[in-house]
Amino acid sequence: MNQQLFEKVDQYIGNLFAQEDNVLQETIQSLDDASIPQISVTPTQGKFLQLMLLSCKAKRVLELGTLAAYSTIWMARSIPADGKIITVEFDPHHAQVASRNIAKAGFSDKIDLRTGKAMDVLNELISKGEEAFDFIFIDADKPPYTEYFELALQLSHPGTIIICDNVIREGKVLDENTTDERVKGVQRFNQMLANNPKVTATIMQTVGAKEYDGMAIAIVN
Ligand code: SAH
Ligand code: DHB
Ligand code: MG
Repeated sequence: MNQQLFEKVDQYIGNLFAQEDNVLQETIQSLDDASIPQISVTPTQGKFLQLMLLSCKAKRVLELGTLAAYSTIWMARSIPADGKIITVEFDPHHAQVASRNIAKAGFSDKIDLRTGKAMDVLNELISKGEEAFDFIFIDADKPPYTEYFELALQLSHPGTIIICDNVIREGKVLDENTTDERVKGVQRFNQMLANNPKVTATIMQTVGAKEYDGMAIAIVN
């Protein structure tokens, strides 16, 4: 396709608007060093998340799927000094690398990294009466996206922005006969989102340095 062009243009936009400093570059390097896949958001997507956080004046952020905390660090830089991010990572190896990157970024106080399954942490936050979040980024395993979103709604308030990564999967969502559980998960999620009266939502296709995909964006009514 035009992947090469999309990559070059993404770099052009990144050079203008989303330059990485040492902390972000070292976070990307830490993935290779620890043999963890390079599936973080791109710099331009990190900047996009920052803009979304600023647009809703986010102070309290929830993230499902930390990996090495690349997206987390972008977001932590866009919330006020008294803001807080809870980020959830299931894989202890990823969490260990993330924890180091968070410390290097100077955000050990601002970012609360929870090692555990997203479903368990969501249920625990709900049962403990955790205050609502202003912004929620769903980027963990894809099959239970629908369930994550329903639980996330219980931790939201009118105006909360919820963004869900990877809901287009190179266009594989068009294949009604797919057997890929991750694609089936986001197909089911997209359908639920479209029919959900509790939110106003759409999907933006994402092209650029990484494989063609999309982000769902929902604002809680
Ligand atoms: N948000 C990150 C990328 C996340 S990649 C960034 O852009 O930098 C997806 C992460 O979700 C992986 O680290 C994976 O281990 C984690 N994950 C997978 N299943 C999970 C689950 N059930 N609960 C929490 N995290 C999970
Ligand atoms: C995968 C997960 C992601 O969150 C992503 O943005 C890209 C790929 C994956 O599990 O392959
Ligand atoms: Mg993702």
